[in-house]
Amino acid sequence: NDFDQLVDVKNGFISREIFVNADIYRQELDKVFTRAWLLVGHESLVPNPGDFYTSRMGDESVILCRDKAGEIHVFLNSCRHRGMKVCRYEQGNTSLFTCPYHSWTYTTDGKLQGVPLHRTLYDGVLDREANSLVSVAKLCNYKGSIWATWDKDAPDFHTYLGDAKIHLDQALDCRDGREGGSEVIGVHKWVFPANWKFAAENFLGDTYHNPSHRSVDLIGIGPSAAAGKKGRRDDELEKAKHVWISFPGGHGVHSAIQPEANEYIESFLDNPILEKYFRHCFEERKRRLGEQARLLPFVGTIFPNTSYHGRQPRGLCAWHPHSPTSTEGWRFFLVDKDAPQEAKDYLRHYYMRYSGPAGMTEQDDMENWLYATAASTGTIARRHPFNYQQSMGAYVTDHPLGGEVSTQVTEQIARGFYRRWTTYMQGGDWNELLGSPASNRQAAE
Ligand code: FES
Repeated sequence: NDFDQLVDVKNGFISREIFVNADIYRQELDKVFTRAWLLVGHESLVPNPGDFYTSRMGDESVILCRDKAGEIHVFLNSCRHRGMKVCRYEQGNTSLFTCPYHSWTYTTDGKLQGVPLHRTLYDGVLDREANSLVSVAKLCNYKGSIWATWDKDAPDFHTYLGDAKIHLDQALDCRDGREGGSEVIGVHKWVFPANWKFAAENFLGDTYHNPSHRSVDLIGIGPSAAAGKKGRRDDELEKAKHVWISFPGGHGVHSAIQPEANEYIESFLDNPILEKYFRHCFEERKRRLGEQARLLPFVGTIFPNTSYHGRQPRGLCAWHPHSPTSTEGWRFFLVDKDAPQEAKDYLRHYYMRYSGPAGMTEQDDMENWLYATAASTGTIARRHPFNYQQSMGAYVTDHPLGGEVSTQVTEQIARGFYRRWTTYMQGGDWNELLGSPASNRQAAE
């Protein structure tokens, strides 16, 4: 496939083939998902030695595990003997992973330990080191979230994030990670019949799709909104100046900048515990972040398949590919670890109402992704590319937030995402994948 033709970002057209074609999907797994940094989970899912949580990288099962010494690892969930899953549970605690097929056992740091009839059948010389569980090449615990890559040549995660860092930071810990930290209070997992890129793109900052959520606006289910009324969030967002940013690594965000440091707006007058807690969060954030507290991160996608909500419902989403037209969505909901239980319960209920497979906004979004995927698989439909011509050229490159910054709704972020997707599909080196100015210029020419 000629990816430059399929992804024509210069003219704003992208072929539907990249959303439905099985051969392109297989190449994505090989060229994107084995190289990019992928979200695996969160440290709070494995708090104690021996704790494990099975996750996914691309379409493969992996085990996130904390070993006896407390160190976190990520392994391929496949036995080195005949490939059986060594862990068939979603989460738990163990001292050994015992393969159900022929009972090879692996320690929690991935080492092959037990081999039945080792002396008799293997002359006692089977190389245990070489037959340990396959480990990721690099792993990063970033403010509690666990990321990994299979590519030993990949840059460190901070470099990979680039200027998208400050936006993601506030999703991971609204108090900037210096006090208490965050914990996951639940993970929603569901499979939906759409290409994974529909979801990733949606969170890049496609606020153009807001009409899809009209019912949510009408009933007012924001974190501090009563039915039919606007809440604190709406008020803050209305006053703020919105920015849509495409970063060179393919990441994209929608954030907002408040014109001046604002004051806390009383929002939970009927509940003193919530009122006290949210006021404390607001004031702590302002004290710790200073000027930067004016930045209100909204949503974003870290290339390729991790999205976040920077404000409530605060959390991370992983869009795990199953096939060209099937995706498994995971939503990790985050709260401050030291929040009062009443605040955690309040937020958990809000998250379920707002997001996830039963949440109002996600249901709206999925309807779009599902029908768009289904309507793009036909012979005639596949001859007609999608249009990505919105706000062409309407961005600046000298903004202090970095990247290509637009102050109007734009598909520049999506164009940037697919420009970088093309670089991966063409086997670009890491200099190109991080979007060096030279490689971006070439792509635009
Ligand atoms: Fe695991 Fe044989 S497949 S021991």
